[in-house]
Amino acid sequence: MDKRIIVALDFNSSDQAMTLLDNLDSSLCRVKIGKELFTACGPQLVRQVIDRGFDVFLDLKFHDIPNTVAKAVSVASDMGVWMLNVHASGGLAMMELARQALDGYGAQRPKLIAVTVLTSLLREDLRKVGVELSPEEQVSKLAFLTREAGLDGVVCSAAETKLLRAQLPEDFCLVTPGIRRAEDAAGDQKRVLGPAEAIQNGSNYLVVGRPITQADSPNAALEEFNLAVSSVS
Ligand code: C5P
Repeated sequence: MDKRIIVALDFNSSDQAMTLLDNLDSSLCRVKIGKELFTACGPQLVRQVIDRGFDVFLDLKFHDIPNTVAKAVSVASDMGVWMLNVHASGGLAMMELARQALDGYGAQRPKLIAVTVLTSLLREDLRKVGVELSPEEQVSKLAFLTREAGLDGVVCSAAETKLLRAQLPEDFCLVTPGIRRAEDAAGDQKRVLGPAEAIQNGSNYLVVGRPITQADSPNAALEEFNLAVSSVS
């Protein structure tokens, strides 16, 4: 089965993360470790999660000079992560060197994707940092730059998925957070999309946090998400 759901381990302790993993089937999902859990628990936790059989998306959004980012990408690859990411606004040279850092890892190399524009930034916020394009135009521009650098794809919001799918080649991977079933609370997500709709719009992987992590039965919730995904793919 193609595991399209990536469960966000948004916790600040190893105990919480491991308790959730006790209630998730690694053959039914992948998991995402972001800045909070990584800062709290470090690479040791990443290795433990991988040892439990889970594919890990290391969501640290590297953004620095090319040499520093490339070295960080190599270290993450040595840990055995399945996917990792950088900020596309770090520029073409940074992304190209990050991609080259993966060359030695062969077919098993991690997927390298980029963040375009943070969904927390509105047009006015972009203008204040000197970007005159609309958020949509900037997302598209950075997605093409990501493609040019040879990366595997981008993280994109539910609202952007359809447009990017139409603009970019089939093999360019789209990873989409902000996914909710009809019965789920949106929480702080402004625009949400159902799992089936997100796949229909062209997303390859769906990042799901609270609807699974806070469910009474995380694995049962995961199975519902998988059912919705398989109904359209
Ligand atoms: O709990 P929820 O499903 O909202 O979690 C979504 C996950 O995706 C969180 O880890 C969040 O940081 C991440 N994310 C997001 N929106 C973005 C990028 C990442 O919600 N634009």
